[in-house]
Amino acid sequence: MNKLLNTLLAVAVACVTATAFAQAPAPAKGQPQPAAQDAAPKGGATSIEAKVAMCMGCHNIPGYQASFPEVYKVPMIAGQNAKYIASALTAYKNGDRKHPTMRGIAASLSEQDINDVSAYYAALAPAGAAALAEQPRQPDAQVSALLQKAACASCHGANFSKPVDPSYPKIAGQHSDYLYVALKSYKTDGATVGRSNGVMGAITKQFSNAELKALSKYVGSLDGEVKTVPQNRFH
Ligand code: HEC
Ligand code: HEC
Repeated sequence: MNKLLNTLLAVAVACVTATAFAQAPAPAKGQPQPAAQDAAPKGGATSIEAKVAMCMGCHNIPGYQASFPEVYKVPMIAGQNAKYIASALTAYKNGDRKHPTMRGIAASLSEQDINDVSAYYAALAPAGAAALAEQPRQPDAQVSALLQKAACASCHGANFSKPVDPSYPKIAGQHSDYLYVALKSYKTDGATVGRSNGVMGAITKQFSNAELKALSKYVGSLDGEVKTVPQNRFH
C-alpha cells in the first residue's frame, strides 16, 4: 500500500512539473525578444521557432546595428541562399570567420541546427518575389573598372543576386556598410577579426579600402533578394 502511494505521489509530482513547464510564459505577440546578447544559446532546441529565437533579436530587426569591429547594420539573411548561410555559419563555427558574437552563436548549433535555420531563412523571403533585372543599373566609370578588375559578376552573377554556385552569397541590395566590413575582413585574418577565405582574400587584397567602399556602395544600392523580415510577421 505504502509503495503504491509513493508511486502515485511520484506520478503526481511529475505531472505538476510537466504542466508547469508547458505553461512557461511565451513571449507576447509582437513583443521584441530579449536582446540576443543577453539570451543564453539554447542548445538542444527542437522546434524551428526555438532554433531561430536567438537569431531574431539581431537579424529580424530592420536596421539593427552591430558595433564590432565598427558600427554597421547586421547582414540581411532572409532570402539568402541556404547553402551559403550554412557555409557562413560553419565558417563561424570552425573559426574561419572570427566575428566573436557569431562565433559564439554558431558554436552552439549542431550541423542539423545549421541546416534547419539556413533553410528557414532562405525561405523567409522567397526568391523571385520581385523579378530582378538581368543587368543592374550601370555603375560609374570608376566602379565599373573595379568590378571588371576582379570579375565580381563572374561569381556573384550579372545582377549580383544569381551566384554561379549556391554556396556563394547574393550581395545585391545587402547593407553597404556591412558589405564594406565584410570585404575588409577578408583582408585580415587575425585572432579577433577577419575571415580566412582563399578566394575573397586574394581578391580583396588587390583593392584599397576606399575602392572596397566604392564597390560596397554600388552593390548595396542595387535591387536584391536579401531582406530583413521583421519578427512580428512570425506570429
Ligand atoms: C547579437 C546579434 C546577432 C545574433 C543574435 C545573431 N547574429 Fe548572425 N550576425 C551578426 C553580425 C554582427 C554578423 C556579421 C558578422 C561579420 O562581420 O562577419 C552576423 C552574420 C551572420 C551571417 C553571415 C551573413 C553573410 O552575409 O555572410 C549569418 C548566416 C548569420 N549571422 C546567421 C545567424 C543565425 C542563423 C543566428 C541565430 C542562430 C544569428 N546569426 C544570430 C549578429 C547576430
Ligand atoms: C571566384 C569567385 C568570386 C569572385 C571573382 C568574387 N567573389 Fe565575392 N565571394 C565569393 C565567395 C565564394 C564568397 C563567400 C566567402 C566566404 O565563405 O566567406 C564571397 C563573398 C563575398 C562577400 C561577402 C558577402 C557577405 O554576405 O558576407 C562580398 C561582399 C563579396 N564577395 C563581394 C565581391 C566583390 C565586390 C567582388 C569583385 C571585386 C567579388 N566578390 C568577387 C566568390 C567570389
